[in-house]
Amino acid sequence: MQKDTTALIDTNTAGSAPAHWSRNRRDFLRILGSGALAATLGPLAGCSDGHAASRTEELRNLLLADEGFWRDVNAMFTLNPAKRFMNIGTAGSMPKVALDLFDSENRARAIESMSGYGNLLAERTQVAPGFGVDPDELAFSANTSSGMCHAILGLQWNPGDVVVTTNHEHGGGETPLAIAVARYGIEVSRIPLPVGNAQSAQLYVSLFDQRIRELRTQGKRVRAMMFSAPTYKTGTMLPIAELMEVAKAHELISIVDGAHLPGMMAYNYADLGMDFMSGAGHKWQCGPGSTGILIVRNKIRASNPLPLPAWYPIHTSSWTPRARTTNGTATWDVAATITSCGSLHTPMFHGLVSSCGVWDQIGRKKIETYDLALSAYLKERIAEIWGVDRLYSPKDDPKLVSAVTSFNPFNNANDVLNSAKSGEFVTRMLSDYSPGFVIRNVNVPVIGAPSDHYVIRISTHLWTSVDDIDKLVAAMDDLRRKMG
Ligand SMILES: Cc1ncc(COP(=O)(O)O)c(C=O)c1O
Repeated sequence: MQKDTTALIDTNTAGSAPAHWSRNRRDFLRILGSGALAATLGPLAGCSDGHAASRTEELRNLLLADEGFWRDVNAMFTLNPAKRFMNIGTAGSMPKVALDLFDSENRARAIESMSGYGNLLAERTQVAPGFGVDPDELAFSANTSSGMCHAILGLQWNPGDVVVTTNHEHGGGETPLAIAVARYGIEVSRIPLPVGNAQSAQLYVSLFDQRIRELRTQGKRVRAMMFSAPTYKTGTMLPIAELMEVAKAHELISIVDGAHLPGMMAYNYADLGMDFMSGAGHKWQCGPGSTGILIVRNKIRASNPLPLPAWYPIHTSSWTPRARTTNGTATWDVAATITSCGSLHTPMFHGLVSSCGVWDQIGRKKIETYDLALSAYLKERIAEIWGVDRLYSPKDDPKLVSAVTSFNPFNNANDVLNSAKSGEFVTRMLSDYSPGFVIRNVNVPVIGAPSDHYVIRISTHLWTSVDDIDKLVAAMDDLRRKMG
């Protein structure tokens, strides 16, 4: 099994190109970035069919040139060949090498009646560099929701503290916020988010900055910003670096629901400098269920010179009271405290570590570029067939894109208000086609709309091919006609 992995190891980090991939990375980045030009040209770019067609074609050709490489990656997974799995935003799939480890460790543990006490320092040390942080800043959590609880419920809130967030948040973050409202009397201020392609990273900066200023003018005590990047509804990547500038300018605690970030985006979290980023281990990172990666700022860096917020662990069996640091050296291993809570399921976390190892070997940037190129291709195809207005995900501002694509596929655009029809579309994409497509729908509050829109959401990942996307688009086009 290890053979599967080693065949793909990027041994060329020093510069020479791994077969069929890196030589094209710059080309991908150029095309992905070319959307920014389209965004600044606005409606003019939208009128130009020639531009849209060439971008699609160029992406397609580049992706096809690397087909062999990603086919080998696909072979590292045990995915059912009768289906195409495009709901990674909900659940990933463990690579064989991680499954084998998980399996053998579970058996060894049963045979020897082993326990799982500890804080997994060695494992955190292995995984942390892939996320740009030190081991004391990377904790293993149970999932995104658990990480959001650690972050939000561990902070020291006062009645009247305001958290500025959005109206596109997931229950995983909403629930601890609601508990903090009930328990500590905090207030939540929600910014209604735009949808579609006609938006820019600067808009998000203005939306948050203005809301914070308005609240402060009203005498409110704004203490934190919390937002999903990307949102689970439209896949819009809220621009973390830009929003961190807003958080720092207003001296706010920063909490990012990054459920979809590990395994999709190759971000450096020390550089970004948020106080908390809660991500899933079991989605794009393809670790076992019940795993998550929680990044906690635990020292002062130039990227975020604000003092560390007062924070206490809420789920641990290993803690002694210690002050948080006021300089660049950590006073205690906060990630050890979060990770250590009684006897752990060590095979599960080792499965996650193994999967992270596969990602590090393939190259996190390489995976990010492939994921973004694939979804850019899908978005262009949707724009060509359905029209760009049907996209709820942005496609042209490179700062706002992710590998999640949401859109309205229906012949009659108003059917997007019909939750049952949207559900039927999802069901039939799996049942009526061979291969069947595993996708989902999601409700989206849209500014000015009388009720939520029920859009189709597609997540494409490192096992997806251009051919899979072409088949998906053809099936969706066919199904929307059949459904009328
Ligand atoms: C943005 C977002 N946050 C939180 C969650 C909850 O994830 P988990 O199951 O890892 O707790 C999800 C799940 O889809 C999500 O999309």
